[in-house]
Amino acid sequence: MSVDVLLGLQWGDEGKGKIVDYLAPKYDFIARFQGGPNAGHTLEFDGIKHVLHQIPSGIFRDNKHNIIGNGVVLDPVIFMDEIIQIEKKFNLDLTKILSISTRAQLISPVHRLLDKILEKNKGDSKIGSTLKGIGPTYQDKIGRHGLRVGEVLSKNFNDKYAKQKSYHDNFLDGHYDQSFVDEEKKFFESIKKLKKFKIVDTEYLMNKNINRGKNILAEGAQGTLLDIDFGSYPFVTSSNTTTAGACIGLGISPNKILNVFGIFKAYCTRVGAGPFPTELFDDIGKKIASNGNEFGSTTGRARRCGWLDIPALKYSIMLNGVTELYMMKADVLSDFNEIKVCVGYNYNGEKIDYFPSSIESENISPIYKTFQGWSSKSNKAQKFEDLEKNFQSYVRFIEDQVGVKINLISLGPVREQTIYIN
Ligand code: GDP
Ligand code: IMO
Ligand code: MG
Repeated sequence: MSVDVLLGLQWGDEGKGKIVDYLAPKYDFIARFQGGPNAGHTLEFDGIKHVLHQIPSGIFRDNKHNIIGNGVVLDPVIFMDEIIQIEKKFNLDLTKILSISTRAQLISPVHRLLDKILEKNKGDSKIGSTLKGIGPTYQDKIGRHGLRVGEVLSKNFNDKYAKQKSYHDNFLDGHYDQSFVDEEKKFFESIKKLKKFKIVDTEYLMNKNINRGKNILAEGAQGTLLDIDFGSYPFVTSSNTTTAGACIGLGISPNKILNVFGIFKAYCTRVGAGPFPTELFDDIGKKIASNGNEFGSTTGRARRCGWLDIPALKYSIMLNGVTELYMMKADVLSDFNEIKVCVGYNYNGEKIDYFPSSIESENISPIYKTFQGWSSKSNKAQKFEDLEKNFQSYVRFIEDQVGVKINLISLGPVREQTIYIN
């Protein structure tokens, strides 16, 4: 029996979808515990590329049950669009292999509208939200007037929706235009279809199955540096993306968690606004972006790119209690003459080796160590020993700096391009 957690250690898009799909055969349940359709998790297999926003990444593996936990915010319209696409493409009946928590919060057209207006009002200090209504939905949850998925089963759901909407009427007065009315119509149509799924108290489902000896993989969304408490606030998302978030977002106690798999790119990316100490604005940054095809899976926006940041990685490992590290997209760094790694910062005139709680671009600059590059021949490696020596030195240096072993190196987007190191 075990609950393992897999999560991103940077600013999201580390490759969580690929690895959840890769590991899923070892587990009985795959469970999302936070976030919502701001996530875009890409899976590639059998020549097919698929991006999941709301649905856990175990969905394509036989005999896995997938859970959308209480910590998630669910947009029924996006969820049903995703369901229909997958059912058509793969001839699957997803109602049998997917359960949704009664306690998950519903994203409604009101939340999406609020997200748009609130971002616009922020002007130059906008966060670069995905505009999926994430922040406003979590605000309503904490404000204790959210709408939960379990309520769709109630006879007076429409009244509950109207009551929730009314909390925002003063602010939104004048914004309820025709496109909003159309979105509301789609929302209610999707709610009807949502009722065909198992809407249950997933905390009981999880714990009963833990006690029966089943294995669960909790799938994180976003990344540690986007965590509402520990990320680069205020340029963060609105949920706890860390291991502790898996306990809260699924209703499992901390002592049930065994392994924590921390995923990081061999470099760094960030989409949206906010501090990014190792960001590159030159041709090297452009080359990383082009080699790595760094465009957002949810919004299509170009991702900002930079070198690996060790103080930030150590901070994320500490917060999550990472037991195994998985290095993703290492193939993207092939064919560079030199590779740099940030090992500390000059911060307000002082040298530091930790990730500070307040970062502004003007008060921080990275201190780099330089490595010799390696060639794309290494991208065909089947085992660690097949990697060129310079590549191996890069891996060993990171392990040495952070004190946790790298157990997996990913060399491409498909399942087979993965080296597992025992
Ligand atoms: P997630 O949000 O963490 O699941 O990551 P995304 O799916 O948003 O972004 C990762 C992108 O990199 C996707 O397009 C993946 O198909 C791709 N990818 C994953 N692992 C690798 C890898 O090792 N090498 C390369 N080149 N691409 C990868
Ligand atoms: P996955 O799960 C990368 C970023 C947005 C924005 C900030 C807040 O695919 O790794 P939000 O819509 O949550 O209010 O946006 O967080 N962001 C992500 N960046 N990957 C994600 O998810 C993200 N989800 C949100 O770009 O800067
Ligand atoms: Mg993504």
